[in-house]
Amino acid sequence: MSHSALATIILSAGKGSRMKTDLPKVLHQVAQRPMVMHLMDATAALNPAKMVAIVGHKAQEVSNCIKAEYPTCLFAEQKEQLGTGHAALMAEEALKNFTGDVLILNGDVPLITADLLQKIYTEHKTQNNSLTLTSAIAEDPTGLGRIIRDAEGNITKNVEQKDCSAEQALVKEANVGIYIVSSDYLFDLIKQTGNNNAAGEYYITDIIGLAIEKGLKVGSYTVDDPKPYLGVNTPLQLAENERIYQMRKREMMLLSGVRMKAPESVYFAYDTKVGAGTYLGANIHFNAGVSIGENAYIEGDSYFTDSNIANQATVKAFSHVEGAKIATGATVGPFARVRPGSDFAENTKVGSFVETKKATLAQGASVAHLSYLGDATIGAKTNIGGGTITCNYDGVNKHQTIIEDNVFIGSNNALVAPICIKEGATTAAGSALTEDVPAQSLAFGRARQTNKIQPAKTVKEA
Ligand code: UD1
Ligand code: CA
Repeated sequence: MSHSALATIILSAGKGSRMKTDLPKVLHQVAQRPMVMHLMDATAALNPAKMVAIVGHKAQEVSNCIKAEYPTCLFAEQKEQLGTGHAALMAEEALKNFTGDVLILNGDVPLITADLLQKIYTEHKTQNNSLTLTSAIAEDPTGLGRIIRDAEGNITKNVEQKDCSAEQALVKEANVGIYIVSSDYLFDLIKQTGNNNAAGEYYITDIIGLAIEKGLKVGSYTVDDPKPYLGVNTPLQLAENERIYQMRKREMMLLSGVRMKAPESVYFAYDTKVGAGTYLGANIHFNAGVSIGENAYIEGDSYFTDSNIANQATVKAFSHVEGAKIATGATVGPFARVRPGSDFAENTKVGSFVETKKATLAQGASVAHLSYLGDATIGAKTNIGGGTITCNYDGVNKHQTIIEDNVFIGSNNALVAPICIKEGATTAAGSALTEDVPAQSLAFGRARQTNKIQPAKTVKEA
């Protein structure tokens, strides 16, 4: 088995007209990640010496997306989209000093895994092939290229759907669109393709027949289940790819010890992490950047974005959590809206109909009902009474509210920031406080009640 170097080419210049939107097809997302990034991840796992992405339609948008995470990726522009063969040829300059195997794949097949690519690569090397293609036996291969074999079962060529004879159209073995070709032949073969076909395009697939005519060793790797590898050309196929991705991810989670009430109703992002022993209720939506520790308890109908939830934390139903840090033993919800910059320490409680933004709660602090805490720092064991609001915005600027340790804020307080309530202070219910409160003192910020003698006006009997 040879140990030659590997280079990769991802074909991502196409417009994707069948998607019927302006967004380049490869930037459409599966599990919150652009399709092309799934392929970058899978190919990068093979440790290639060089990675090339072919960009064309909205080239800048596609290359910016890739560059942000793969700064060493090389780009080649395909100004006119004249076909997949023409697209791959654009990588010639970037790979001119490269010798080894070149892995070429379409940018619209986001369910390809590193594991599959590794298997194809191993097959290519152990068989000593000059070209290895990937095929699938598809029940309905409509739209895909067909792998044509002779009576002995040897591959002779690929024929695209549009160019198939009636007999060829019956062939169930379809081209998945992953190729490994030795750099000795790749670009010469592509240059020999023509565009005299139904689409008027230069097909990468034509190098299969050309390689065989030249007597090169061509082999194939056939995947068991073709469904994940048929690619995304339409919104319908995008939804189907999402469905398959979610099924895989749920299965992985369940096998790793996550418990789920209704796995089919939990939607993960590509990077969602959930620890063993954690329970997930029904109808939970994860956006990117969420990590949940072990033995946490997450009730249903909740949304999570870009947040860190520690071991043994509890989030009750109907909560929205974004940009937050929730520590061990903390309880959030039900019906909590936790916004970016919320940081809840161990054993804190954020209860029902509470909204927080840039709010830090130290250990054991509690805000149990109907409150808004914005630009606020809350000390340890401090209790915020129901209905309390930090008035953090004066119409132009935001101001800080600082409440120190062991403070008791009465119900329905309006804390007009900037303001500091010092350690051990108490504030009376219904107070509107505009000045700092010293430590260990009781603050009243409301009018004194007066009582006058005057019987209630009851309804007179007729
Ligand atoms: C291609 C294969 C087909 C295979 C199928 C698998 C060809 C000719 N056909 O068909 O045999 O069964 O994939 O999914 O290759 N692209 C460019 N520049 C172009 C044209 C396309 O970069 O000029 C890119 C697209 O962005 C896309 C990929 O190449 O990521 C595949 O193109 P697409 O038009 O989707 O090919 P299929 O018709 O699906
Ligand atoms: Ca396609």
